[in-house]
Amino acid sequence: MVLSNPSKAAENNPVDWTEREFALIQSLSLSQLPPQPPSPSNRYADNPSAASLGRAIFNDARFSANGEVSCATCHRQDYGFTDDLPRGLGIGVANRRTMPIVGMAYQKWFFWDGRADSLWSQTLGPLENPVEHGIDRHQVQQLVSAHYAQPYQQVFAGDATNQPVDQVFANTGKALAAHVRTVLPETTLFDLYADALRSDSNETSILTTAETRGLRLFVGKAKCVNCHNGPMFTNGEFHHSGTPDNGETDLGRGAAFSDLETTEFGFFGKWSDADPQADGDHIRFLDRNTHKYAGTFKTPTLRGVSDRPPYMHNGAFNSLAQVLNNYRAVSGSTLADEVFHGDLTDRDLVDLEAFLGTLSSNSNDFHN
Ligand code: HEC
Ligand code: HEC
Repeated sequence: MVLSNPSKAAENNPVDWTEREFALIQSLSLSQLPPQPPSPSNRYADNPSAASLGRAIFNDARFSANGEVSCATCHRQDYGFTDDLPRGLGIGVANRRTMPIVGMAYQKWFFWDGRADSLWSQTLGPLENPVEHGIDRHQVQQLVSAHYAQPYQQVFAGDATNQPVDQVFANTGKALAAHVRTVLPETTLFDLYADALRSDSNETSILTTAETRGLRLFVGKAKCVNCHNGPMFTNGEFHHSGTPDNGETDLGRGAAFSDLETTEFGFFGKWSDADPQADGDHIRFLDRNTHKYAGTFKTPTLRGVSDRPPYMHNGAFNSLAQVLNNYRAVSGSTLADEVFHGDLTDRDLVDLEAFLGTLSSNSNDFHN
């Protein structure tokens, strides 16, 4: 991509990146995204017919108590697969903000607190959550039998009407997961910049001076890359970020471990396709220190972030400027080194925000 606006280009000065910075920038680039890892607990995860059944159900509002709520009501494709509300709104108001569901195949834990250990198990949660879809597994079975009998039969080689209700429920989750896995990130201005750097094509004017400074802070002094790393800008793990709790205590990861044990739809549960001997190291070696994880949440992806306010698990902030101001305010606080971001100046915050803007797929429009 060539920057066509010469006045813009004149503002840009090529940057000499250190070897370390260069390596970190490349590690964030979409070109480094590996092929989707397999999903051993879901043997239909990469089955295209399962994905197309899952896509239909994802968009089907009949799967709700009032006939008006589908997964797509909250996970809006036109809004980075989340919504513009501080808390998800279905049959009622959810406890937390809707998460963007891009690049899910690269994650091991699901929900802000990671209380689901596989994607198909996650998708069953909202269906039976009274404030989301507000139905139950018996209704899921009836709806699948009434509207998707044939595709169900084709994918799962069984009759949805006669199979045990839990089996139909689990299979519905597996089809939904197969669809969600197809939602992948799009190339952004940042990726074009990383590619240009690698090819030495001298097109480093793709980013403005402010965006370039923001990138340097992101991978350096501000330590953002400690948690927002890899091509999805997330390590998929649980951390303190100093988000204010808005009056309601949410222990996040610290309260999630019991859910992992009680669900029959888990990675090691009855309906899983995983091999309990070989798969599931993320569960076997899980650190279950509730004290350490109290008040931690899953690091969200930053791809597309500037297009989809509000932010954080509770929608505490309406703008990236507020997110960054809070990071500065809590830096070096009692949360200790997890949230140490160096001494960020006002200009640093502006430049970090400019850089975050380059992580949107439409960011190439606003430069031209
Ligand atoms: C009422 C709004 C709403 C509906 C409807 C809804 N979700 Fe969500 N989704 C949320 C919220 C809120 C969260 C975070 C919940 C939490 O952490 O407790 C979430 C989290 C997720 C996640 C986890 C993402 C991650 O990175 O861990 C996935 C995947 C997901 N939803 C898929 C679905 C699917 C599939 C459906 C339909 C069966 C669905 N959602 C229906 C609001 C909704
Ligand atoms: C210690 C790990 C960690 C570090 C370091 C970190 N973050 Fe985060 N970030 C998180 C977590 C966890 C959340 C979600 C917090 C919550 O929901 O309350 C988050 C949320 C965000 C969000 C909101 C995204 C959304 O969809 O809600 C933005 C933007 C963000 N971080 C940017 C940054 C920037 C810029 C830096 C560097 C100044 C940074 N982060 C450093 C872990 C981290």
